Amino acid sequence: METLLAKPSKEMVDKACELISSRQVVALPTETVYGLFADATDSVACENIFKAKERPMDNPLIVHICDYKMLERVAAEIPEDAMKLAEAFWPGPLTIILRKTALIPDEVSAGLDTVGIRMPQNPVILEIISRTGLPLAGPSANRSGRPSPTNAKYVYEDLKGRIPMIVDGGSCGVGVESTVVSLATETPVIFRPGFVTQSQISEVLGKEVQLSKGITEELMKDEKVLSPGLKHKHYAPKCEVTIINASFEKYKEKVEADGAVALCFEEYIPKLNCQAVAYGRENDSASQAVGIFTALRRLDEIGAQKAYAIMPSMDGVGLAVYNRLLRSAEFRVVNL
Ligand code: TXA
Ligand code: MG
Repeated sequence: METLLAKPSKEMVDKACELISSRQVVALPTETVYGLFADATDSVACENIFKAKERPMDNPLIVHICDYKMLERVAAEIPEDAMKLAEAFWPGPLTIILRKTALIPDEVSAGLDTVGIRMPQNPVILEIISRTGLPLAGPSANRSGRPSPTNAKYVYEDLKGRIPMIVDGGSCGVGVESTVVSLATETPVIFRPGFVTQSQISEVLGKEVQLSKGITEELMKDEKVLSPGLKHKHYAPKCEVTIINASFEKYKEKVEADGAVALCFEEYIPKLNCQAVAYGRENDSASQAVGIFTALRRLDEIGAQKAYAIMPSMDGVGLAVYNRLLRSAEFRVVNL
């Protein structure tokens, strides 16, 4: 199949609407990462997403909506807390898990009775949802297991020949996928950290919000998980990544002695005598979020075999950065 790659235009939007209405998948930018979208109400369309990405069928998809009317079509119950979060953070990088309606097929929810719902911020995708009148299922537009794509070039690299079209909307402003919070649990639980933080959610709800264990720790093979994404291999470059929790001096000594590539903050680069890839600025978690997935892909582009990543701060958005890095490192952390 030929993959059309072009900037947003009236023709591209028309074509995207046509493709989606005929059960095909299209890659579109969002404020977080690029997604691979199809009609969330149609099993065949959703199966096409899993096929294109080679995604395991037991990992549910997020449903993207453009307004509150559409929320009522996909969520069976809309608790007050959901409205509070939606009003505070939508359109934006927050996915809320609620009980689903019968409109959402099992392929989307992976057999669960819940669905993750998000109103994204990008005007192109909002227009496409609104014009087709269809909620769109959309995982990140990478091959399963690879780092999420934050620009159209990486979508093309992973999915060329497997999908009919990619809308090139430039680089994504957030850089990590949405925060996933469940309101289908007894107390709210964050399944995946993102740009919207635990304390922001807790403040809006006026109550405690838990963090799922799999965010900072490796789950046991047979451990029961409420969010299947927590147990899948993720974000892995071909290069072997290890996180180093150390001062700059100790980190420098270690990375130079072992002949590894440094995956570090921009400020470190002029001070290191080794190959290095930056993933953001030192005291700026938001810049690290923007840079992390591109940096992981850079490692493969330069043919790195082994990389040592400097440990990021885990505060605020930093937790999302740490979580993605930890998973790309397959949970290897060395404390020096
Ligand atoms: O920012 C984002 O969320 C991007 C853009 C494209 O919107 N999408 C994205 O989708 O990252 P994906 O499929 O790569 O990640 C969805 C995550 C997975 O970890 C999945 O397990 C979890 O959300 N998830 C989805 N529905 C769920 C549900 N009903 N219950 C528990 N976890 C769910
Ligand atoms: Mg993904």
